[in-house]
Amino acid sequence: MAQIVCKYSLFVLLLVLILQYSFSTFAHSKKLYEKKPCKRFVLYYHNILFNGTNAANATSAATTNNTGLGNFNHGMLVIFDDPITKDNHLLSPPVARAQGFYFYDMKTTYNAWFSYTLIFNSTEHKGTLNIMGADMMNEETRDLSVVGGTGDFFMARGIATFRTDVAQGDYYFRLEMDIKLYECY
Ligand SMILES: *[C@@H]1O[C@H](CO)[C@@H](O)[C@H](O)[C@H]1NC(C)=O
Ligand SMILES: *[C@@H]1O[C@H](CO)[C@@H](O)[C@H](O)[C@H]1NC(C)=O
Ligand SMILES: *[C@@H]1O[C@H](CO)[C@@H](O)[C@H](O)[C@H]1NC(C)=O
Ligand SMILES: *[C@@H]1O[C@H](CO)[C@@H](O)[C@H](O)[C@H]1NC(C)=O
Repeated sequence: MAQIVCKYSLFVLLLVLILQYSFSTFAHSKKLYEKKPCKRFVLYYHNILFNGTNAANATSAATTNNTGLGNFNHGMLVIFDDPITKDNHLLSPPVARAQGFYFYDMKTTYNAWFSYTLIFNSTEHKGTLNIMGADMMNEETRDLSVVGGTGDFFMARGIATFRTDVAQGDYYFRLEMDIKLYECY
């Protein structure tokens, strides 16, 4: 009898511990989510795709063609060195460059995967931010991860929220990037 009671109370204790642990992790993730960014700024990304006739203006080019799987450029890889401006004018003086690539990866809709570095070299900021994630283009806004940084952005982490500002044919698009850093040093 004593053994059964002992086993039972051990079980209850374990249950209480598990519940406590899951509540505390829940509270923790909620707290992190509600955290205010330590730094926030909005930038515009301009991508001019090379189409064979616009070499003077182009800032990006496809290095692989699509695979023909579906009708949404699946498999097309684009490498870019794009100007980043503070307002949405292509010809405003750039405050940074975005260097990296994206590729289309869905058969059923337009969806790209981005990986790039924002390189700041101005009197205001020197350093880099590294950003990666999925760009689900049908969504009004998309969150990508800021996975790290250097210089003025040493060890930064956060979220870059994309919003399509303009898409002109298939040779120019502009993204608004709302960058929120939650770890700053
Ligand atoms: C190529 O892109 C330029 C703009 O960068 C545009 O004016 C031109 O019409 C495009 N040409 C073709 C064939 O799409
Ligand atoms: C292309 O570049 C020329 C010269 O730099 C500029 O005048 C023109 O506005 C640019 N066109 C586009 C579509 O960006
Ligand atoms: C890319 O693929 C499309 C068909 O998916 C084809 O029409 C086009 O000619 C290809 N372009 C190049 C540069 O190979
Ligand atoms: C940063 O800008 C300065 C001044 O324009 C230039 O001398 C330097 O080469 C640039 N550095 C990089 C990494 O682009």
